[in-house]
Amino acid sequence: TLSDALGRISTAPDVDTLRSIEREFVGKDGVVASMLAAIPTLPPADRKGAGQSANQLKQAVLTALAEREVALGNAALDAERKGDGFDASLPPPRLERGTLHPVVQVTRELEDLFTSMGYMVLDGPEVELDEYNFEKLNIPADHPARDTQDTFYCNAPGSKATLLLRTHTSPVQVRAMEHLQPPFRAVVPGKVFRQETTDASHEHTFHQMEGIVIDRNVSVGHLIGAMKTLLRGIFKKDIEVRLRPGYFPFVEPGFELDARCPFCEKGCSVCKQSTWIELLPCGLVHPNVLKAGGLDPEEWGGFAFGLGLSRLVMLRYGIDDVRHLLGGDLRFLEQF
Ligand code: PHE
Repeated sequence: TLSDALGRISTAPDVDTLRSIEREFVGKDGVVASMLAAIPTLPPADRKGAGQSANQLKQAVLTALAEREVALGNAALDAERKGDGFDASLPPPRLERGTLHPVVQVTRELEDLFTSMGYMVLDGPEVELDEYNFEKLNIPADHPARDTQDTFYCNAPGSKATLLLRTHTSPVQVRAMEHLQPPFRAVVPGKVFRQETTDASHEHTFHQMEGIVIDRNVSVGHLIGAMKTLLRGIFKKDIEVRLRPGYFPFVEPGFELDARCPFCEKGCSVCKQSTWIELLPCGLVHPNVLKAGGLDPEEWGGFAFGLGLSRLVMLRYGIDDVRHLLGGDLRFLEQF
């Protein structure tokens, strides 16, 4: 019976068969149990031998069952691996994760900074009316300042209003004045467009962040103070600034604010060793613009500034060509 049992075990096709063989031999009413039960009926001289062989049979069957069970398990795994290609031991497929665009990263950082200083974050249309992009900003149709901000016009046939891709975020200054009750302060991050011949420092699409503060009795001192706070927030240290006169029809007086180069070491390539970098145009809001926004210039005043977001990102990360920013090359984008 032992060799019979071992033979059946070694060819058993599945675990259920093994269990039934186990019951048959070592179960409560199995072969081994009946062998043991028969011992008292044997002549005393044979009893010891009978007991031993019953136990040997039990051990041999149990060992063979255990071995066969392991073998069946391995065979099942092998079959599965060969079968439909599923292999539970393979590493999972690599998850492709995107990263935030550097412009988005810097925009969010600045939004946090400005909201902590009581500014709202506003939005405006990228396809803008000529009226808001130019007219209400004190740039009438025949004004020479239009030459420096040539853009793409998208006139609907038959419509009297002129639509264009906005050349700056400044139109939102007027939209804000029309919609909000002063005093208020706001920043406007967004895309702007110019008709440009592109090169390393000119791109037809780039990003600005407009700042606008409307209040009573606003002076150039407030403007400078706000700009220094802003620069401390951006560069995490006090930055010396200087103002040069700058001309923008929608501010009076208007300035170009230069910052003492925050990256300057000897031979700095950022400021070309002049130790100053031209950072942001700004000024006090022109009375005509206040009027266009429905405010009385006798009562309200304000200042505005135009942060070049694209330029700031380039400074921050040492990017030497503005065209990388919207070029869509993953080798560039994956670095951030
Ligand atoms: N809108 C101007 C530009 O794009 C920048 C600017 C903004 C200047 C606010 C003064 C005040 O050139």
